[in-house]
Amino acid sequence: MVLRRLAQLTKMDSKIRIVHVLKIVAGTLGLAVLLLFTAASIRTLSLDVNAGLQLANWEKTNNISLVIEQRQREQLLATFKEAIRIPTVSFSETEMNQTALLHFNQLLRKAFPTVFSSNLVHHELVANYSHLFRVRGSLPDLEPYLLLAHIDVVPATESDGWEAPPFSAQEIDGFIYGRGTFDDKGSLMGMLQALEYLLMKGYAPRRGFYIGLGHDEEVHGHQGALNIVRMLEQRGVRLLFVLDEGLAILDGILDGLEGPAALIGISEKGQATVKLSVSTVPSHSSIPPRETSIGILAAAVKRLEENPMPRLFGMGPEKAMFEHLAHKFKLPMKFIMSNLWLFSPLIGRILERRPDSNAFVRTTTAVTMFNAGVKVNVIPPYAEAFVNLRIHSAQSLQEVLDLVRTTVADERVKMELSDGFDPLPVSSSDEKAFGFQVIKKTLLDMFPGVTVAPGICIGNTDSRHFRNLTNDIYRFSALWFKPGDPQRFHGINERISKKNYEDIVQFFFSLIQNFDIQRLPDSHSSAHEL
Ligand SMILES: *[C@@H]1O[C@H](CO)[C@@H](O)[C@H](O)[C@H]1NC(C)=O
Ligand SMILES: *[C@@H]1O[C@H](CO)[C@@H](O)[C@H](O)[C@H]1NC(C)=O
Ligand SMILES: *[C@@H]1O[C@H](CO)[C@@H](O)[C@H](O)[C@H]1NC(C)=O
Ligand SMILES: *[C@@H]1O[C@H](CO)[C@@H](O)[C@H](O)[C@H]1NC(C)=O
Ligand SMILES: [Zn+2]
Repeated sequence: MVLRRLAQLTKMDSKIRIVHVLKIVAGTLGLAVLLLFTAASIRTLSLDVNAGLQLANWEKTNNISLVIEQRQREQLLATFKEAIRIPTVSFSETEMNQTALLHFNQLLRKAFPTVFSSNLVHHELVANYSHLFRVRGSLPDLEPYLLLAHIDVVPATESDGWEAPPFSAQEIDGFIYGRGTFDDKGSLMGMLQALEYLLMKGYAPRRGFYIGLGHDEEVHGHQGALNIVRMLEQRGVRLLFVLDEGLAILDGILDGLEGPAALIGISEKGQATVKLSVSTVPSHSSIPPRETSIGILAAAVKRLEENPMPRLFGMGPEKAMFEHLAHKFKLPMKFIMSNLWLFSPLIGRILERRPDSNAFVRTTTAVTMFNAGVKVNVIPPYAEAFVNLRIHSAQSLQEVLDLVRTTVADERVKMELSDGFDPLPVSSSDEKAFGFQVIKKTLLDMFPGVTVAPGICIGNTDSRHFRNLTNDIYRFSALWFKPGDPQRFHGINERISKKNYEDIVQFFFSLIQNFDIQRLPDSHSSAHEL
């Protein structure tokens, strides 16, 4: 959703506005700016040259192709629909549909018999409903990776305006409707279906890997993902990288961009939930003090809203995203985006004007709960408020807490951290980043017109629990998002096209084989193959 807004912004108001602002800046600063622009132009041109690296043609180590015939296609879609029809809803951390989770377990065993019976695969149930598969590789020296997906979904009610009941998997115009089609049963079923086909065709990986399926991702993953992590940690497993859900292929969502962009998430924002409270002596409302606990707390909360966290656009991984995409934009956006060293303060100012693009620019502050008062004629003895902050990659949890304290600036307001974590480390996305480059290569083979770039998730995924096991966490699903689709995430009319689901199966089918290469070809030789 954020990306779409960002795109609208960069197109509608800002294209005109940026040019306008530039004129003012140039007029004011004269020659110095002119010199900077010259440097900037050079950089714009040179970035295009790098684009060729995407086409590196690697020698395949495995070469099994998947031709899906009509009967197989019907089977594959029927299995997927069955998965959508099981309402594996997480209502809260303690309330999930256990009947549905048990059904889901049965479905997996029925749908993927080869996965469950192959002697290359070791399967374990984790915390009753989550799953960990280990697929043995023939070269044990190659560091394993992990594919992650989740079984649970957020609630959905037909009366909210669904065109088809949310757990019906009904087909309308080539789309399968249902909660979980995007998030995250498309990926989950797609990766197991791909493994099922690979094993049926006699494939044996060189590089071993794991598949982890959590059952409580939507409510923090403390049972599923966290227990999977503990098991791997106990066994001393170190992972080359983790691939989880997160970002997708955006088609027509970033306005001004030529062709679709596949964004691979390389970080996630952090979080802090801060409880603010004020206690005062209770008294009668006929003899009120000058300020009540409510007044004191309300003023503190208001200060937090009026003083947003600093603008940090360009200081985090969003910079890499813009630079990767720059060459696919038309001027003047191309010029601006390839020179964030110069323009990021300007872009930051424009993006901050709308809530969803503002989320890219800074740590956001949301006052989400406010409770106080006991009786209409009693001075409230106690007032409390909760503030939920989403932390930008360039800031730490501690820095944010310090800023909240100095902004509140009132010793009568007690401050407690009720929950929080730092932004996730930034995973590598350069030409030496194995996971990133193999995902990129697989995508470019399947969809040659797509531009692949690193991105940032403003929400959180189960993969954050794996940060002690690996340096590189990537967040991407081969979901094809058109305008309007990002709103379907956790919203109404979540749906996936039949073609897109088949693409996901094909994607994992190739991806798993591509991960078998022992190392990346060095960038010089790959450039030569052009
Ligand atoms: C893949 O296998 C087919 C036949 O099975 C062969 O014709 C083709 O050259 C192979 N391609 C590569 C890249 O190894
Ligand atoms: C839980 O799942 C079962 C089917 O697996 C379904 O019949 C039931 O209605 C679900 N319960 C709720 C509360 O969604
Ligand atoms: C697993 O199921 C058993 C028996 O139904 C139950 O006692 C236990 O608490 C469950 N464990 C978890 C982690 O849910
Ligand atoms: C990761 O390691 C840190 C420091 O050793 C520890 O505090 C933290 O609990 C670990 N996190 C997980 C998810 O295991
Ligand atoms: Zn999800």
